[in-house]
Amino acid sequence: MPGPTTYFDPSDAHELDPATRSLFERRTKVMGSAYRLFYQDPVQLVRGQGTKVYDVNGVEYLDAYNNVPSVGHAHPRVAAAMAKQAGLLTTHTRYLSEPIVSYAEQLLATLPPAVDNVMFTCTGSEANDLALRVAKYATGNTGVIVTGNAYHGVTTEIAAISPSLGGMDSLADWVRVVRCPGTEVDFAEAVEAAISEMEAFGIRPAALIVDTIFASDGVFPDVAGLARAAASVRAAGGLFIADEVQPGFGRLGTGMWGFDRYAITPDIVTVGKPMGNGQPIAAMMARHELVDEFNRHSRYFNTFGGSSVSIAAAQATLDVLRDEGLIDNARTVGAYLLDALRGMGRFTEVRGQGLFIGAGLESEEVAVAVVNALRERRVLLSASGPLNDSLKIRPPLPFSITDADRLLTELDAVLP
Ligand SMILES: Cc1ncc(COP(=O)(O)O)c(C=O)c1O
Repeated sequence: MPGPTTYFDPSDAHELDPATRSLFERRTKVMGSAYRLFYQDPVQLVRGQGTKVYDVNGVEYLDAYNNVPSVGHAHPRVAAAMAKQAGLLTTHTRYLSEPIVSYAEQLLATLPPAVDNVMFTCTGSEANDLALRVAKYATGNTGVIVTGNAYHGVTTEIAAISPSLGGMDSLADWVRVVRCPGTEVDFAEAVEAAISEMEAFGIRPAALIVDTIFASDGVFPDVAGLARAAASVRAAGGLFIADEVQPGFGRLGTGMWGFDRYAITPDIVTVGKPMGNGQPIAAMMARHELVDEFNRHSRYFNTFGGSSVSIAAAQATLDVLRDEGLIDNARTVGAYLLDALRGMGRFTEVRGQGLFIGAGLESEEVAVAVVNALRERRVLLSASGPLNDSLKIRPPLPFSITDADRLLTELDAVLP
């Protein structure tokens, strides 16, 4: 079975309790074999509230993992806004509508002024796909540079720039990979070498795209040389795309966006996951000159991208983020957790910023054992990194000091 072993192994189905096994078998029969489930003993969730989720037997779990319900599971303001809009109208961007324009204005106001257009999609994959199309039209180039274990999504074009999905063999011939941050290699030098190597094959760079928290590379909040790498790509005629699908919307506690920490103004920014607190909405934001160039080649429409209910969810999510001070909470609780995790002295390394933390263990086997043991103790998280040996801690943003203490207590009980 390809992929990290924090996933349930279907050959262990005989060990499941009869109800779980029956649902798993029904699911596999109709949904096929390509999906994965978390944990050796999969969890059947039926509801959530804030930082907690509840299984089919009413058992409560602390959610230390899910970044999509970012302002908290089943937030009443988001749910009410969606219900209200669903009862009024659900339509798309071929009609004039004030709420989508107002939301676009507020969203763009959180970005550097140069990034002044937003185009809505349903998923982060689509946002990145659109970003590459825009970059290729705008630069006239085709090359794309990515990090060693990057994940940017699932469309054919984006799977072809995502080494963590199908390995190096699945990448397109116009893609160049630079080593993961955290290795000995200087990031800017690696990008510059990739540009030269690409040019030796007659390919010029359209873009360097990075997840600005380097989540699938193992969580790296401060990568020296990122700004120089972006400048080098621009000097070679390409663009810098900040994939904010993971760190965006305040998770790092230092502002809205991961790239803010580097004092870089990206040419293109893509967002998704937490944007609608669970409603599928994502976006690509870019300088208007880039969008104008795209428009000379192609019109744009996405049936559900920016539909009325999605915009209502996104607006309510943005309102809650601001009104409940969740970025400050991410900073405060994140710092508390980072200190405490480092103080435990039981990780090889603890990296992170705000409520996005990677905690390294000796091996994948240990990480997988810890993840499964925590699940048994009703705490949900997962593992990440090229070797899958780091715990990935990335809870909903209302995660409190009490939640952090519960996570730390349970970790203390299961860590080797
Ligand atoms: C950094 C990054 N970019 C893009 C995506 C793709 O987003 P989606 O699953 O909404 O298509 C993901 C999803 O995990 C991601 O982590």
